[in-house]
Amino acid sequence: MLKVAVLVSGGGTNLEAILKAVEGGEIPDTQIVGVISNNEGVYALERAKNHGVPGFCVSPKDFDSRDDFNKALVAKLDELSPDLIVLAGCLLKIPDEIIHKYNRRIINIHPALIPAFSGKGFYGLKVHEEALKRGVKITGATVHFVDEILDNGEIIAQKAVEVRPGDTPEVLQKRVMEEAEWVILPEVIGKIAKGDIKIG
Ligand code: GRF
Repeated sequence: MLKVAVLVSGGGTNLEAILKAVEGGEIPDTQIVGVISNNEGVYALERAKNHGVPGFCVSPKDFDSRDDFNKALVAKLDELSPDLIVLAGCLLKIPDEIIHKYNRRIINIHPALIPAFSGKGFYGLKVHEEALKRGVKITGATVHFVDEILDNGEIIAQKAVEVRPGDTPEVLQKRVMEEAEWVILPEVIGKIAKGDIKIG
């Protein structure tokens, strides 16, 4: 049984895709052992609750220092003891201590074809605003291992999505989520669960 902890920051649509894929069997032999948000009151925690998955908020706002926050996040992950950590719409910079402890056991979904539109400042809608500004005809999403450098780890999977005339950032974001993010993230987790992709 693959134990998975999912880290979120907002709406949780990628989390929803994962939960549905586990329930539907596309992701076999897997248990989502917990969802951790760095922001309180986000809909992702509501989604976890709706699917009977324990949800937790570990927010930097609740700690006197970043070091205390990091310690609390490490402790929560130790409590869940996941085999795999999935960053799904997670805008938190993961502490190096966790990256080292879970080497090649943390994956992230990025809403562009890395290395395009990635790195510092490229997250959420901003990614699609920049893609439209540059005039690319193809964009998409990437699943990659997480290392100490933002959006830099080994690429595991990518899926291309066409940019259409008249696209707004919001319309493009929705297409990339629907046609790419919500497809490749569950697919990769399923392959990890089946041993087709090696972690650790
Ligand atoms: C999405 O654009 C995702 O690619 C990015 O964060 C945004 C929100 O994701 N990582 P979600 O709806 O919270 O899963």
